[in-house]
Amino acid sequence: MDNKIRRIGILTSGGDAPGMNAAIRAAVRTCVLHNITPIGIRRGYNGLIHSDVVELDARAVNGITARGGTILYTARSEEFRADEGVQRAANNCKYLGIDGVIAIGGDGTFRGARELAKHGINTIGIPGTIDNDIACSHYSIGFDTAANTAIDAIDKLSDTMQSHQRTSVVEIMGRNAGHLAVYVGISVGATAIILPERPFDFERDIVEHIRESQYRGKHHHLIIVAEGTNSTNEIAQRCRDEMGLDTRVTIIGHVQRGGSPSARDRVMATRMGHRAVEEILAGGTNLIVCYRNSQITTLPIDEALSMTKDLDEYMYRVATEITI
Ligand code: F6P
Repeated sequence: MDNKIRRIGILTSGGDAPGMNAAIRAAVRTCVLHNITPIGIRRGYNGLIHSDVVELDARAVNGITARGGTILYTARSEEFRADEGVQRAANNCKYLGIDGVIAIGGDGTFRGARELAKHGINTIGIPGTIDNDIACSHYSIGFDTAANTAIDAIDKLSDTMQSHQRTSVVEIMGRNAGHLAVYVGISVGATAIILPERPFDFERDIVEHIRESQYRGKHHHLIIVAEGTNSTNEIAQRCRDEMGLDTRVTIIGHVQRGGSPSARDRVMATRMGHRAVEEILAGGTNLIVCYRNSQITTLPIDEALSMTKDLDEYMYRVATEITI
C-alpha cells in the first residue's frame, strides 16, 4: 500500500462562522489542482460516522465565498465523543477511500481531528470560530465579520440611545472569552467593557466610568458585556437601581454568526484552506493551520491545544481610557 493521497474529506464542525465557505472553496480547488478528489462531509463528524458525504469538484463551490454559514452544514457531534463513534468514522474514511480530513472549527473540532489521526487518517484543522479563542492562532475565521456585524448593530442602537439619553447594556458573544467583546467595545467607544477574563467590580468598572463621562457632559452610555460573564441582566438592573439610569438590554446573539464574510475573513479563509491541502499532500498530519506573526503556518495539534490565549490587556486599557 503506497502513501499517496487520493481523496481528501472536508468538514465544518462546532458553531458556524462567516468565511467557512471560502475555506471549503479554497480546499476543494487546491485538491482539484493536484488531481485529488475533494469529498464534502456533511454535519461535521456526524457525516463521517453516517457516511453522509458528497464528491465535490471545482464548480460545486462556485460563488460560495460571499455566503455566510457553511454549505457542508455543521454539528457538535455527541456520537463522535465516544471511542465507538471515532472508530466508526475512521472505518468509514477507509471504506470511502478518504486518506486525509480537513476539519474547520474550534478546539473541540481539533480534538476530534487528533482522535482520527490516531487511527491513521491524515488530519489537519483550520481555526473557524467568531470567538477568536483558539490559542495557537492569532486569528480565526469569522471573527472580523462577527465584529463588524455587532458594530453595525450597535451604531444603530447608539442613534436611539443618544436621542433618549439612555444607557445600553449590550451582550456580545464569545463563549468564555472576551476577545470579540473588547474588539467591538473599542470600535464603538463603549463606556465600559465587562469581560470574563477580568474580575468584575460594579463600582470600579461601571460606576466610576459612567460618573467620569457624566462629569464631562455625556448623557448616554454604552456598556459592552461579554456573554461569558453571565451578568448582562444583573448589570442593567444595577444601573437602574443603583444609578437611576434609564437602561435597556440588547443581546445581539446569533446574528453575529451570520452574514456575508468580510474581505479579511475571505482572504484568511482562502489562505488557510489552500495551506491545509498543501500540508496534507506534503505528508503532514495531526496539525492545525495557524496565523502567527502575520504568517500562515502550522503547529502539531497537541502543542496547539496545550497553549492558552490571554486577553489583550493593552487593547482593554486603550478601550477604557479613551472613553471618558
Ligand atoms: O463558539 C461560537 C458561539 O457563537 C459562541 O460565541 C457562543 O457561546 C456559542 O457559539 C453559541 O452556541 P450555539 O450556536 O450552540 O447556541
